[in-house]
Amino acid sequence: MSRTTTPLVLRLDRTARLPLALQLADQARRAIRTAALAPGARLPSSRALAAELGVARGVVEQAYDQLAAEGWVESRRGAGTFVARAIRHTPARSSGALRRDPAVEQRPPVLRLDSGSPWVDRRHHQGWTRAWRAVAADQPPMHYPDPAGLPGLREAVASHVSAHRGVVCTPDQVMITSGTAHALSLVLNELTPGAVAVEDPGYRAAVATALQQGWEVVDIPVDEEGLDVDALVRSPRSDIKAVYVTPAHQHPLGSVLSATRRTALIAESRRRDALVVEDDYDSEFRYDVAPLPALAQLGLDDVVYVGTASKTITPGLRIGWLITSAARVLDIAERRTARHDHPSWPVQRALQAMLEEGHVSRLVRSARRVYADRSRLVRERLSPHGRIAQPVAGMYLVLDISPRRVDHVVATAAREGIEVPSVADYCRTTSRSGLLIGFGGMSDDDLRRALDVLEAALRDSAGVDDEEPPKSGVLA
Ligand SMILES: Cc1ncc(COP(=O)(O)O)c(C=O)c1O
Repeated sequence: MSRTTTPLVLRLDRTARLPLALQLADQARRAIRTAALAPGARLPSSRALAAELGVARGVVEQAYDQLAAEGWVESRRGAGTFVARAIRHTPARSSGALRRDPAVEQRPPVLRLDSGSPWVDRRHHQGWTRAWRAVAADQPPMHYPDPAGLPGLREAVASHVSAHRGVVCTPDQVMITSGTAHALSLVLNELTPGAVAVEDPGYRAAVATALQQGWEVVDIPVDEEGLDVDALVRSPRSDIKAVYVTPAHQHPLGSVLSATRRTALIAESRRRDALVVEDDYDSEFRYDVAPLPALAQLGLDDVVYVGTASKTITPGLRIGWLITSAARVLDIAERRTARHDHPSWPVQRALQAMLEEGHVSRLVRSARRVYADRSRLVRERLSPHGRIAQPVAGMYLVLDISPRRVDHVVATAAREGIEVPSVADYCRTTSRSGLLIGFGGMSDDDLRRALDVLEAALRDSAGVDDEEPPKSGVLA
């Protein structure tokens, strides 16, 4: 066992409803599970850690007792507390068989109800195998391929997007990208730097992309009709050069940008000489009727339409497309040539094969049915506990509940191995509270198990809003 103490980076939230000892145990458990604390590592003494965190020593002792009871740590009289040696065996495979630590075996694996993972079944694997055969039969190019993408793929994307989204375009208006954030980054590179307006709450990867490229982000609120275009009109910022929107299915609230706001958005972006970036990430999965036409139909001079294979096939492919005027595609391609920013040939070729043989369209049809059924189930089970707006599309929905109930449910679910995102994590300057329930990337059984846990936690959280708020150190 180690003689030196491994430092623990812990953050306790005194305003949270979860007792401090449980918070401490949760964080230490996570550090052990992710190997940030190695097997055999020595934990700080309860006295030292209590002093460092400014809590009673009993709080740390209670957390250590809990971890010891679960088998994560071992206490040695006079020597201290150590990460259990047996944990070493958890992730290691020997001769193909997984050796399990009994303490870990009892707990269910972490199930993430995230909004980004799509449903995948054997059809995906079969389609992938066929596509890969087509790739293997081809000769890879011996030079850098066209930075705008393989001509055959650009053609296949043009017909896919016009069939599914009514965006009528020619292959020279299509550019292949490595996904949505990459598309946004290519577009921003073309503009004189300034500010980009984004939905708030909104897509975090878009915000991160803009900020990392040195752009300022202007938050525009969202309501039941999507982006509040009047708020954009009122914004005093004169340097907004791009507006990033998810009109078909606002991420994460799920609203649809109304027809009036669509025309108002185009008018306002023209007035500002700004480009609209339309992220159309999951509109193919509309359950009932065809989605509203894409904004891009109003004109590819004003709009860059951004699509992705992450929802239909898998995010692991890292491939998507942007569609805009042919002149803009040429400009972007020129910059990409200078940087050797060419999408990988085998992945492009595989997507082309999957689009050409109709595999992607078949997947969209099956997934749409799966998502419609699952969204109905989630709504039936959870709507007695909070407000759920009628979901229209995609693989997630939002349950509106108070911030204190969110904290309670998130913490309770985490103890059962279920990670559920909070809407507040998608907000920058607005404040909305609720849970984002993703139901795509899991089996039906896992979804039912998650719903059992959430239902129980929600029932249990019903009274937390009426309880006394936790004491804070500040006197009113
Ligand atoms: C709003 C939104 N847009 C796009 C994507 C897909 O991004 P990418 O194409 O980079 O995988 C996601 C994934 O979760 C998303 O939530």
